[in-house]
Amino acid sequence: MVFAENKNDILKKIKDINSFEELEKLRLYYLGKKGIIPESLKGLASLSIEEKKTKGQEINIFKKFVEEILREQKTILENSQIAKKIKQEIIDVTLPPNIKTAGKIHPISQTIFNIIEIFGNLNYSVETGPDIETDFNNFTALNIPEHHPAREMQDTFYLEGNQENNVLRTHTSPVQVRTMLKNKPPIKIIVPGRTYRSDSDATHAPMFHQVEGLVVNQNATMVDLKSTLVLFLEEFFEVKNLQYRFRPSYFPFTEPSAEMDVAYTKVNNKIKIGEGNNWLEILGCGMVNPLVLENCKIDSKVYQGFAFGMGIERLSMLKYGISDLRSFFELNYRWLDHYGFSVLDNQTRSGL
Ligand code: DAH
Repeated sequence: MVFAENKNDILKKIKDINSFEELEKLRLYYLGKKGIIPESLKGLASLSIEEKKTKGQEINIFKKFVEEILREQKTILENSQIAKKIKQEIIDVTLPPNIKTAGKIHPISQTIFNIIEIFGNLNYSVETGPDIETDFNNFTALNIPEHHPAREMQDTFYLEGNQENNVLRTHTSPVQVRTMLKNKPPIKIIVPGRTYRSDSDATHAPMFHQVEGLVVNQNATMVDLKSTLVLFLEEFFEVKNLQYRFRPSYFPFTEPSAEMDVAYTKVNNKIKIGEGNNWLEILGCGMVNPLVLENCKIDSKVYQGFAFGMGIERLSMLKYGISDLRSFFELNYRWLDHYGFSVLDNQTRSGL
């Protein structure tokens, strides 16, 4: 049986194989439970000790030989499969874009580019932070202590099994903390990014986007805050003389706090921002609470600041007339083709 087969023939037989199934068949033929080699080993039982030794050695050498070429052939097959795949998936990155079939920029990305561009012109720089945050950065440092009702307001996703009580950040405000702990004032940043809350209906998604703003220096005032926000919204919505109002509000991390509303009218069922008798809440803001400055190792007797935060989906829906929040995240190509932006429309590139 085995030994009737010449090594060169076996070698040729295995080398000719070009599928994993065939290779496996051959492996079983030689090495499987009922294969030639185990069977020959079983056959040794009836032989004399001397014969067992010589025959046994012979079979083992043969076994090693077969195992070795099977292994080699397997590697050859694997490598050729990888090479084939690479060849199939090759992309010529030097080809010019085919505009007709090119993808589109998602309205959320476009809105972020747009926000960065406007604040960039006001000398703000962009900061980012991780989606997974410590309880300290997301809450405690922002003057939201444990058991504070504001924690429940935010429907937090808690992560299990970690020492820092990590959460999926519920707002972009923890990046204020990160930045203040890392840099000395003057600070002038915006923070666009993803945020998470356990909430899902027509107007809430469990993942959404916010942009945070923070200015810390020796003389920032509420007037600066107001004029910055008015200027931003006029640029963003491309309106002059925006009608707006600031309402007193409460956030633990700002004192005083306010919410800003903008006026709008409905024309043919479409919202037009800028003037009218209706008000739409658009953002939260205030003067940075001195307690937050101190939590971030900034001397509140020397420095003061303002902050603001707003929802990016909201801004995007209002600007581009998108009526359903959920459509942003449905990955519907036809929707994206309609509401998306051509790559060439964008001057700002942020890599976000
Ligand atoms: N973090 C707040 C939220 O998620 C928004 C906010 C309000 C941010 C006021 C601020 C601020 O920086 O000053 O709802």
